[in-house]
This record gives sequence, structure tokens and C-alpha cells, in this order.
Amino acid sequence: MAMANFLALFLLMELIAGGYRDGANGLSMNYYVFSCPFAEPIVRNTVASALQSDPTLAAGLVRMFFHDCWIQSGGPVYDIPKGRKDGRRSKIEDTFSAPAPSFNASELVRAFGQRGFSARDMVALSGAHTLGVARCSSFKNRLSDPTMDSNFSKTLSKTCSGGDNAEQPFDMTRNNFDNSYFQALQRKSGLLFSDQTLYSDPRTKSIADCYAKNQATFFLDFQQAMVKMSLLDVKEGSKGEVRSDCRRIN
Ligand SMILES: *[C@@H]1O[C@H](CO)[C@@H](O)[C@H](O)[C@H]1NC(C)=O
Ligand SMILES: *[C@@H]1O[C@H](CO)[C@@H](O)[C@H](O)[C@H]1NC(C)=O
Repeated sequence: MAMANFLALFLLMELIAGGYRDGANGLSMNYYVFSCPFAEPIVRNTVASALQSDPTLAAGLVRMFFHDCWIQSGGPVYDIPKGRKDGRRSKIEDTFSAPAPSFNASELVRAFGQRGFSARDMVALSGAHTLGVARCSSFKNRLSDPTMDSNFSKTLSKTCSGGDNAEQPFDMTRNNFDNSYFQALQRKSGLLFSDQTLYSDPRTKSIADCYAKNQATFFLDFQQAMVKMSLLDVKEGSKGEVRSDCRRIN
């Protein structure tokens, strides 16, 4: 990771750590207005320049479901409530791990439903796969899937000839936040089983079709789902603190 990227992440964590609290759940759109009035432009500019030097950083940021993050590299722009406290625990088993790539649409609907997300939220959030790549190890079991587009399956075989760690983008524009992920599903060219399955269940297919046709609707639903995501651990009542050293529990 380039130095600028470290700096961007560091600043984001600092921002999450600092600040003044208000509102019922402790979050607010103006969280830093007094304590650090330039917080948002500082983060925005730092992230923007880090993304300029390494556009692949965006996928990592979204993957971390970045709580206090602003995605400004094209794509949806949205403001989310800020001021989340830092966790008192840092345990791998606490993380809301992304559902397995082997999940079918019903399992995805249920897994997200348990966290309060609708099927529509889930499909929109899956669209975050518009950024980034997956490794061959997570899709090689699909190389002989007869329902996959035959050209796409050839492309995947070629990728996997580079080994389990070889990377394949989810869509043709891996660094652009756009709706081409959903268009790939329409062409039977979803990378993971858990991607293509969105197009085989009638409940989610209609949503995927809608996003493939209408990018603005995808962006709008995505930002609403991300705001929901940002409130997740507040709603679930996790107790936090403001760390004085962002790397350590106080
Ligand atoms: C989805 O997966 C679950 C659990 O493996 C299974 O019971 C169910 O039949 C699957 N649904 C479909 C439509 O394949
Ligand atoms: C596969 O790719 C070839 C060459 O680009 C194209 O002519 C053909 O129509 C494609 N087949 C499918 C099923 O998309």
C-alpha cells in the first residue's frame, strides 16, 4: 500500500476516534462541525489523492464498509451520520463477515434480513462488487457451470491458469463505481455463485434488472443501504469509547 493510502486510512480512523457527541444515537451529520470543522474536506481530499495514485484502494475502502467514509470517485456521493465510537473489543468473530460466495439468493436474503436489511438493500449492497476483484480460489468451482456464459467461462479458465491467487474483476470496469456489475449478471457473467444467484431468484432478479437499466436508482438505493449499514452497530447497542490512541483500546 502506498504511503498516501496509509495516510488516508490513518486520517479516517482518527476521524472516527475524535469529536463531540449529540443526537439520540450519538451520531450526527454535523458531528465534527465544532471539534474539527475541516475534518470532512481533509478526509475527502486525502482519500481523493490516495485514490488517484491507486484506484484499486476504493474496493478495499468499500469492503471495510467504511463507516465514516465518503466515496467520491465518481459513483454515488453520500453523507452519512458520523461520530461512531471505537470498539472496546477487537475480535475477528465480531465482524459481520461477508456472506459466503457459495450462498444462494434465499440464504443471502435471510443473512441480510437478520441484520435488518431488505432484499432490495442486499442487492444494492452486492453492487459494491462493481469495484475490485475476486481470487480464482473463490470461483474455480464454477468453471464447469453450464449456466455461465461460455465466453466468460473461458476467460475465467484463463485467469485460473495463473493459480488460486490469480485475480478476476467482477465486471469490465473494476475501478469505476457503476452498474455494469448488474449488466454482467444479465449476461450470465456473474463472477461468484453469490453474484449470479441474484439473477436466478425472481425476488432479486427484478431488482438486479432495475439497477442494470437504471444506474441512478442503484446509486440511490446503495447510499440508503450504506447509511443503514453505518448505523448497524449503534442500533445493536454496542458500547464504545473514543480512543486516545486509535490503534489501542483505552
Ligand atoms: C439455498 O440453500 C439452502 C441451504 O443450503 C437450501 O436449503 C435451499 O434449497 C437453496 N435454495 C435454492 C433455491 O437452491
Ligand atoms: C463469444 O465471443 C465471441 C467473440 O467475441 C462472439 O462472437 C460470440 O458471440 C460470443 N458468444 C456469446 C455466447 O456471447
